[in-house]
Amino acid sequence: MDTYILGIESSCDDTSAAVLKDSKILANVIANQDVHKHFGGVVPELASRAHQQNIIPVVNRALQIAKVEKKDLNAVAFTNGPGLLGSLLVGASFAKSFALGLGIPLLEVNHMHAHILAHFIEDEQQPKKPEFPFLCLTVSGGHTQIMLVRDYFDIELIGQTIDDAAGETFDKAAKIMGLPYPGGPLIDKLAKEGNPHFTKFPHPNISGLDFSFSGLKTSILYYLRDRLKEDQDFIEKHKADISASVQATIIEILMEKLRKAARETGINHIAIAGGVSANSGLRQAMLDEREKSGWDVYIPKFEYSTDNAAMIAITGYFSYMKGVYASQSITPFTRYSNEKL
Ligand code: KG4
Ligand code: ZN
Repeated sequence: MDTYILGIESSCDDTSAAVLKDSKILANVIANQDVHKHFGGVVPELASRAHQQNIIPVVNRALQIAKVEKKDLNAVAFTNGPGLLGSLLVGASFAKSFALGLGIPLLEVNHMHAHILAHFIEDEQQPKKPEFPFLCLTVSGGHTQIMLVRDYFDIELIGQTIDDAAGETFDKAAKIMGLPYPGGPLIDKLAKEGNPHFTKFPHPNISGLDFSFSGLKTSILYYLRDRLKEDQDFIEKHKADISASVQATIIEILMEKLRKAARETGINHIAIAGGVSANSGLRQAMLDEREKSGWDVYIPKFEYSTDNAAMIAITGYFSYMKGVYASQSITPFTRYSNEKL
């Protein structure tokens, strides 16, 4: 018998619903929120209001595209955290009532684990799945983590940022340059035309497998402030070169720690996940490392890199197959912790 799962994602600024048939995606609908563009970041209150407006049409659209009726669904999976509380509450309340109304199981999903498990979505274009154990560099707007993945439900955080996340650094650099939010994709695009050696930014000196990006953010700020004093058109003239230099520095910092994690664990099956894994420079750096170090690398499809409900549905599918259901009294959590599986 086929298993149909509805996945719901509402942890940040994208409202998304997906329908999964076993491990295959039938529909993955994402409503982006434009309201944040002018604020240089996500405004939590505006995000939860937009989720409230979007969630019903997005779910209906996903069911329509999948040609699946509500009565055919086996379970409802939703993001229970980490994320913005108000946003999470919209998805959680919707999923709970939906599951209750249909009399089907509710499945709790950890957003960061879902980014990783997106690699297991069945896809003809990417038939190769990661082999356990593997390492995953999970890089998003709020998190920068190195995970040791032993199994679908055995995921250990072995390194993380002590301050800003990699995505946040892309976004903040873009903001300093006067680019709209989210800046990551724009920097990626500009960097393609620029010189990564245009300027050199310092690398942090952090022990173990942890990261730090706040120093980089400050050096970008001071560097541009000083250059603007000499030439007020400096950013406009050198947008591509500055973007390429910022991007190269972020990637070098990420790859240094990932190499260290590979050396220390002896694991050379390495994946990337999360919004920043959509970055063309990071994807290329992984492919280069495959050539250099013989890593087995796993790069998610572009549409499963940034936030989406397909990854929530596949993670829910694994819980469903294991018989691990959530209770109606479950409440969302905002921060990631190693215990919160
Ligand atoms: O995983 P995600 O969609 O949402 C969170 O869970 O945070 O990640 C969003 C982050 C943003 O900071 C965005 O700027 C960044 O991912 N991002 C990128 C690219 N696409 C998205 N950063 C660099 N290059 C990209 N192509
Ligand atoms: Zn995410």
